[in-house]
Amino acid sequence: MTQFNDSFVRCINDPLFLDQFYEVFLASSDEIRAMFKDTDMGTQKAMLMTSLVYMSDAHKDTPGLLASIAEKHDKDHLNTEVSQ
Ligand code: HEM
Repeated sequence: MTQFNDSFVRCINDPLFLDQFYEVFLASSDEIRAMFKDTDMGTQKAMLMTSLVYMSDAHKDTPGLLASIAEKHDKDHLNTEVSQ
């Protein structure tokens, strides 16, 4: 767990981490790029950073938070299931 936390802290303290994350993620598929075509990526990066912090703490508390993020991404909402 210490190793995970140390690594996570190094990532979130590096301003290039999310830029590079979305660069690789968006380059990985046309389908994914299309999903984010109207997205304000500055806001999106801030939101993902917050979500990652919550996720790294999810074993301790806030169980409802992950469920609500999962619901937002499911078939009835963002429908992020990407075909292979
Ligand atoms: C660790 C995994 C992920 C986390 C924690 C996460 C978290 C989030 C959060 C918090 C939002 C904002 C929801 C809101 O508006 O209230 C969001 C939006 C979104 N997510 Fe994710 N997400 C993840 C993975 C993915 C993946 C794998 C995809 C697509 C393949 C995806 C596609 C989207 C899209 C299209 C939006 C909407 C962007 C917009 O507002 O225009 N997400 N995500």
